[in-house]
Amino acid sequence: MAKFEKAKSVHEWLDQRLAINTLQRVLSTEYWIPKDINFLWAMGLVLAVTFGLLLISGIFLLMYYKPDVATAFDSVNYTIMTEVGYGWLWRHIHGVAASVVFLIIYIHMFTGIYYGSYKKGREMIWISGMLLFVTFSAEAFSGYMLPWGQMSYWAGMVITNLFSGGSLEAYGLVEWIRGDYVPGDAFLTRFFMLHVFLLPLVIIGLIVFHFGTLRIPHVNNQEGEEIDFDEAAKLYKEGKKKESKVIPFNPVFLSKDVFVLGIYFVLFFYLVFFHFEFAMDPVNFDTADGLKTPPHIYPEWYFLWSYEILRPFSKDIGLIAFGIAQVALFFLPFIDRSPNVAPAHKRGLFKIWFWVFIVDMIILTILGKLPPQGIFNDLGLVAAIVFLLLGPALVVVTLKEKKL
Ligand code: HEM
Repeated sequence: MAKFEKAKSVHEWLDQRLAINTLQRVLSTEYWIPKDINFLWAMGLVLAVTFGLLLISGIFLLMYYKPDVATAFDSVNYTIMTEVGYGWLWRHIHGVAASVVFLIIYIHMFTGIYYGSYKKGREMIWISGMLLFVTFSAEAFSGYMLPWGQMSYWAGMVITNLFSGGSLEAYGLVEWIRGDYVPGDAFLTRFFMLHVFLLPLVIIGLIVFHFGTLRIPHVNNQEGEEIDFDEAAKLYKEGKKKESKVIPFNPVFLSKDVFVLGIYFVLFFYLVFFHFEFAMDPVNFDTADGLKTPPHIYPEWYFLWSYEILRPFSKDIGLIAFGIAQVALFFLPFIDRSPNVAPAHKRGLFKIWFWVFIVDMIILTILGKLPPQGIFNDLGLVAAIVFLLLGPALVVVTLKEKKL
């Protein structure tokens, strides 16, 4: 066993046993971040903190929520909202955070795409991010089932029906997922388990993994410049801070992150106190009724784009298109054939591709909320086809870019 000197402080005692000084250096004061970044690089921390808020508010809600089809609706809409002290506040925080987290995830993803932060060396950052996106989607969907309102029930019905595989008619699989012929008690309790236990556990693991993937390639910067981090860190430590291209995570970058976080909190709590209804569907304030289909079933806003890719096609083609849309982004680092790491505005045709992508996602999102009739259906078909063509278009655009 190593020889232990008598420690002069608790800090030293801990350092002898846990190497906390080294840990602090590696994870914080000597974790180097490029200088040339903007507020969009704070979105990662904003996401981590929002997930923390979801966990804490979720724990409070869990103390009163009842996972049973007979009592779930009242436990949320009556007990938590009216009987429990500040129950409404925890519910508003949870509901608003669940919606806002997707807005931030989309901003974070599109920042990565705009600056080419998924390219050579950073593929695993992107892939772990996509795994987080898919797991967050499952987490949001399973949570939406819990209040057991009309939209919970019918969204649960529609989404689990997708597993029948269209004309494959694999209803055995659908029933296996539901634990019954239709969503019922078994369905609610298994989605409850997923929402409060398994999926949060996976998300925590994936966040740690995502942070780990940043370690070797480091975060990108606004110009996509390849930085010699050892050299830049040496300059910084020698006191040549102006010449160095990096700053330490703690305290320099963190203080900027906290500033952005402060502004975010103002907006976040404004929504929590004054506009929480934007995160809650009025139809879901009617209790689930398997005999009364709502006239128009649609998911939460963050799933509307992929829902709209499913709808305008025939059943089987819609399902295939939907499947492609779910996995295509995983392959982005390999579909983009250009080695140029640069912001989109310096990448010619890629810039046009990027904005077409954004506008198409917005159009799909708007149409996803509208009833699939007449002109809306035709526009949806065009927008969905454009979305599916974006993949091959990216190969062509980036191959051309390579030749420039
Ligand atoms: C809860 C979910 C997530 C958390 C907590 C998280 C956290 C972070 C943090 C702290 C950073 C470093 C600072 C920054 O660039 O913001 C980062 C970088 C990054 N993340 Fe995430 N992230 C999440 C989800 C995602 C998703 C869904 C994607 C995309 C599919 C993604 C892709 C990336 C990329 C490409 C980078 C590197 C940015 C660069 O090098 O400039 N992340 N993430």
